[in-house]
Amino acid sequence: MLKIERLKIIKSNFPVLVGDKVLSKSICKVLIKEISNSKSFDDMIMGGRSRINKGSKNFNIYIKNSKISQKIFKLFNSKSFYKKIEKIFKNKFENTSWKNENLPNIFNKSKFTIKKKLNSSELKKILGNNYKNPKVNLDIDFSVSRGGYRLRPHRDDITRLYNFLIYLTDIPKKNGGSLTIYKKKTKKNIRKSFRRFPKINELEIVKEFTPKQGTVVFFQSTPNSYHGVKRFIEKNCPKRFFLYGSYALNKPVIWNYKNTLYYPHIISTKKRMLTSFHDANYLTTVPKH
Ligand SMILES: [Fe+2]
Repeated sequence: MLKIERLKIIKSNFPVLVGDKVLSKSICKVLIKEISNSKSFDDMIMGGRSRINKGSKNFNIYIKNSKISQKIFKLFNSKSFYKKIEKIFKNKFENTSWKNENLPNIFNKSKFTIKKKLNSSELKKILGNNYKNPKVNLDIDFSVSRGGYRLRPHRDDITRLYNFLIYLTDIPKKNGGSLTIYKKKTKKNIRKSFRRFPKINELEIVKEFTPKQGTVVFFQSTPNSYHGVKRFIEKNCPKRFFLYGSYALNKPVIWNYKNTLYYPHIISTKKRMLTSFHDANYLTTVPKH
């Protein structure tokens, strides 16, 4: 169903793979229909993205009633497919310097990143302070965005290893909604800290992808994997249907860059928010608990 052999390396400062026509047009169309037919969505984020998230009651109902979505979900939610992705990255980016220090052995099918609002101390408690022997799980959502949707440059959750996007609609360039990949402007020898939400003037654009039906993007969620989405203008064009997912650990990922370890430091806040809104800085020092 998924032609992952079509994934090719994109020149970037972190590992990114992109493939056109990984999913056939007919499958994309069925998926759009299935998402359109969903009676309810779990949440709306980022100014116009409605999601059906793995782990919700709604998601289970959706998967039960949606044949092709179920097929895709089952494929991604398996240890064998995770291993395939891990292997592709290992083979294609042999000389890449970023490595995950603690490789997971157990794939947990039923686990998902909680969508509850937490403050930073609650989040730290959940993640624990022993980063060894992590387990890996799939997070996935079936999404549709309307006009106004955008994402400022960021890096994903500190638990994530690989992220992926599957575009189901063709969006004309003038309508925006493109996935943008950024690079930190700093000199190569000053790689000491990686904030989750860098200021826009600290970044430069490396690449932009206009969503195309059937295109799949995979990228490694390294500390410098800065990406965002330009504002989507819904005018004479379809809604932006897509799937977003990741393989995530049940603990923070410790990244190894040329034998230097980078640990995530969660920024303290009393404000309760989703894990995806929490700020964290990757530093070479071990965080205090
Ligand atoms: Fe992201």
